[in-house]
Amino acid sequence: MALLPVLRQRLGRSFFLPAHGRGRALPADLRRLLRQRAGIWDLPELPQVGGPLESEGAVAESQRRSADAMGARRAWYGVNGATGLLQASLLALAAPGQAVLMPRNVHRSLIQACVLGDVTPVLFDLPFQSDRGQPAPPDRLWLERVVQATAASGRTIAAAVLLHPTYQGYASDLVPLVQLLQQQGWPVLVDEAHGSHFAVDVDEQLPVSALSAGADLVVHSLQKSSTGLAQTAVLWLQGNRVDPDQVQRSLGWLQTTSPSALLLASCEASLREWRSSRGRDRLRRRLLEARALASELREQGVPLLPTQDPLRLVLNTAAQGVSGLEADAWLLPRGWLAELPEPATLTFCLGLVRHRGLARAFARMWSQLMAAHPGRDAFPTFEPPPLPLVACPEMALSKAWRAPSVRVPLAEANGAISAELVCPYPPGIPLLIPGERLDQPRLAWLQRQRLFWGEQCPHGVRLVDTSGSMRDER
Ligand SMILES: Cc1ncc(COP(=O)(O)O)c(C=O)c1O
Repeated sequence: MALLPVLRQRLGRSFFLPAHGRGRALPADLRRLLRQRAGIWDLPELPQVGGPLESEGAVAESQRRSADAMGARRAWYGVNGATGLLQASLLALAAPGQAVLMPRNVHRSLIQACVLGDVTPVLFDLPFQSDRGQPAPPDRLWLERVVQATAASGRTIAAAVLLHPTYQGYASDLVPLVQLLQQQGWPVLVDEAHGSHFAVDVDEQLPVSALSAGADLVVHSLQKSSTGLAQTAVLWLQGNRVDPDQVQRSLGWLQTTSPSALLLASCEASLREWRSSRGRDRLRRRLLEARALASELREQGVPLLPTQDPLRLVLNTAAQGVSGLEADAWLLPRGWLAELPEPATLTFCLGLVRHRGLARAFARMWSQLMAAHPGRDAFPTFEPPPLPLVACPEMALSKAWRAPSVRVPLAEANGAISAELVCPYPPGIPLLIPGERLDQPRLAWLQRQRLFWGEQCPHGVRLVDTSGSMRDER
């Protein structure tokens, strides 16, 4: 089928991103714009419009107002998602050959930026939640051990990255983490793609936002955690550790020369929502409804895992012996469209729309799902990836990725260096990155990942061909 008819289809119950719920929670001024003559808003960078990198025009003015309202020094709107802004941020923070400390569960866009900018990622391992096979955010003690191990490695670090919250909404107290990293002299970039609503001061139970925690650069995806259209995002800069001109130059390398005025207007409108009493009230109501929904579902025996973002429902399917991917495949044709299927869980994004009568429907859906998969035992606990606390790839990523390479079965890859990213999507967290040397425990772990992720975790791996004699199994 062609694309246009699909976009008009009723798809069922939507629990995916963008969080505006197929337009229902779009800001009123953007809806009004979209109701005007089709295409009227599709303007180039006319002097009165400008663009994210111009100092004059409506976009510049809007960015300045957003930054002022947020208490940030600078703001840049983005039309290539959090991806584009994270990549530009990383290039601004580290020169070729420099190293950046980042957690193992970074989004693949940052690893790709390391390839683009010839930056070395110094990757730190995370606490592991073995009941669901997902990493947990680190706390201050964990990060202190990371900092010590990094110092012991003798590597000079140019900057550090934190992820807050995770896709599932797991978050820890960011303040001591940011402080610890800045005390080392490292500017801190926080990927808060899933947490722009943390920066809206309406709910004391939400985690402290990266901006309040004092991070130097913060990326918000406005489609994931506000009411923006797909691809909208914003990058905030605060303090004096990062040079805004360096950020501006990096954005200039990666940004399209024809940014969509509609997407830029959507950035503005969704950020304005967070400042308006209407938008703030709406967020407050959604959070209250979401908390009430989760507690009602738990009372009815639906196994939801605790998460710090009430707008994410993390269904623990593994507790009943069903994988999140299996549950998703069963639910899709029945009109339940979740966001994030993983081996042990299926995550539903409630977004910013109201879901009337969801508690009953969700509980019924859960019992039907269980009835369709009877007699299963709960999954055994998941094993953590066999990784050192701190490690960096043995070969520069940019070199490994471009080197002559061959694809070989995983079982034959012991001792070789990966030339590729192995990364199920979603969530977009790499299991293996270019330049890493494979050893037996890592290979055995990757092979077991195939049982969980299926085709998303390939049977073979592309390796740097150092011998010239390896066989290619494409
Ligand atoms: C944590 C995180 N950061 C960044 C991104 C990239 O966001 P986008 O797809 O809007 O470019 C994602 C996407 O899933 C993500 O989960």
